[in-house]
Amino acid sequence: MVEPSTPLPPATITTIGAVTDRQVILRAIRAGLWIWPSFALLDAYMCFVAYPVAPFALFVAYRVTLEIGFVVVYRVGLREGSNLDRLFFWHSLTYRAAAVIISLMAIHLGGIRSPYMHGISIVALVWAALEPVPWRRALPTFIWIGLAFPAVMGIGAAVSPSARAEWLNASALTVFISNYVFVLASSVLSLLLSHTVWQAQQQARTFGSYQLESLLGRGGMGEVWRARHRLLARRAAIKLVRADKFGGRADRKQAALARFEREAQATASLRSPHTVELYDFGISDVGTFYYVMELLEGLDATALVERFGPLPAERAIHILQQVCDSLGEAHAAGLVHRDIKPSNLYVCSYGRTVDFVKVLDFGLVKPLATENAQLTTQLAVHGTPAFMAPEQVQGDGHTDGRSDLYAVGCVAYWLLTGRRVFEAETAMQALVQHVYGTPTPLSERVPQPIPPELDALVMSCLQKDPANRPQTADALADALAVLAWAYPWPQDRARAWWQEHLPSGSEPFSTEPAQTGTQRVRKHG
Ligand SMILES: Nc1ncnc2c1ncn2[C@@H]1O[C@H](COP(=O)(O)OP(=O)(O)O)[C@@H](O)[C@H]1O
Ligand SMILES: [Mg+2]
Repeated sequence: MVEPSTPLPPATITTIGAVTDRQVILRAIRAGLWIWPSFALLDAYMCFVAYPVAPFALFVAYRVTLEIGFVVVYRVGLREGSNLDRLFFWHSLTYRAAAVIISLMAIHLGGIRSPYMHGISIVALVWAALEPVPWRRALPTFIWIGLAFPAVMGIGAAVSPSARAEWLNASALTVFISNYVFVLASSVLSLLLSHTVWQAQQQARTFGSYQLESLLGRGGMGEVWRARHRLLARRAAIKLVRADKFGGRADRKQAALARFEREAQATASLRSPHTVELYDFGISDVGTFYYVMELLEGLDATALVERFGPLPAERAIHILQQVCDSLGEAHAAGLVHRDIKPSNLYVCSYGRTVDFVKVLDFGLVKPLATENAQLTTQLAVHGTPAFMAPEQVQGDGHTDGRSDLYAVGCVAYWLLTGRRVFEAETAMQALVQHVYGTPTPLSERVPQPIPPELDALVMSCLQKDPANRPQTADALADALAVLAWAYPWPQDRARAWWQEHLPSGSEPFSTEPAQTGTQRVRKHG
């Protein structure tokens, strides 16, 4: 018996730079927001016990003033439109201000001998812990932090004779120097630490010759990132899967990696223009398996239907024909996709052509002839419940290209109706339905008319017995081609659609899901 893909938690690769710059800065400000006022307790102890002459009210004023500063910068940072460089500057200013204010407080707590000097080390260390940045970027802040204390005391000496006298007092000077060495050291070390962490982060974001830029999407197996080649201008997408997401067992990790490698090799061997092009693959230093593919502009078929509602018959036919082209080649090469589903079909604006389909994630492909049974049983992940052929659910090992055609039938169902073939509450129910349930003809599920020949063709793909389905992707493609004569989807119509709905290629006008008939399209998996 085969488990659905749900047992695998979505891989979240937070260590590899999943946190954006803005979030890092906001986190550092948030830390300041909490740490800064908490030292008011120490102020109280110092002002009432250790140095009873110290003006506590002034200390409170200092704390409140900078706390307001933290809050203001934080609020600005929360605004999406705010400029990141400026936010970084203002946030570094709050850290500099903290160092200056601590120095001002120290005037009342022993002057150049003040133990409060060590507060400045804490400021530096908090920065180092929370803000990984290249040293050049942090240097101005650390010069401020490192010099704040002697600068404030120096100005004090210039205006106050008693402060000046302290600098001439040998024992006071000795205490100052022995304390200040630690402040300087922690400033320099914090600068280096922040840089080192930043550097490690950059390395973790590098895969082969590619550098991650931003997250495109998350799926059952991992994350997909927009990426850039370090030397060429080529834009790319990288799919990442971290081996430890497959549980602690070493053999499972090995099997996962082996399967991922197979997926990459299989995809790379295919030449159909409707199969996503693979540029590179490998394992990164941090043990993440990755493959680099062409970056597609457009949206996957899940998003297409969720946002814009079910497709007209002619457009669905046009899309399905292209899927069959990709599968036809794969099947001829002895590869079964085994995870055909809407989110693995990308509807692109491709050069000058729109509604160009790319099949992604030959993720569960297995070479037909040389099936490695061990690999598939260990992983126990065989497709997505809503789109799985009965023989795949039963896991008797007799899956072939016709299982993909069953999934194509499920996808066609989704494209034309915005519904899944079996709308089950749980993954297990969906699987049982695929084995025993009778699908409802499409025309009975939606108010809009569906050509009876198309309805019949989709229903034939959904036959339980593979022998009753179209026998090959090419046969299905031929049947679709006949329908395409009667229901053509010319480029000018496609282009008009894109012009109206996705003029920029992939940024839709509205992110609101479209309404279908009276019912909102349900999220499907
Ligand atoms: N080459 C690509 N170019 C642009 N977007 C992509 C590419 N590959 C995948 N994506 C996006 O990333 C999302 C996540 O992909 P994936 O991890 O395969 O998840 P799923 O299990 O939903 O297929 C996809 O739904 C798709 O929108
Ligand atoms: Mg996918």
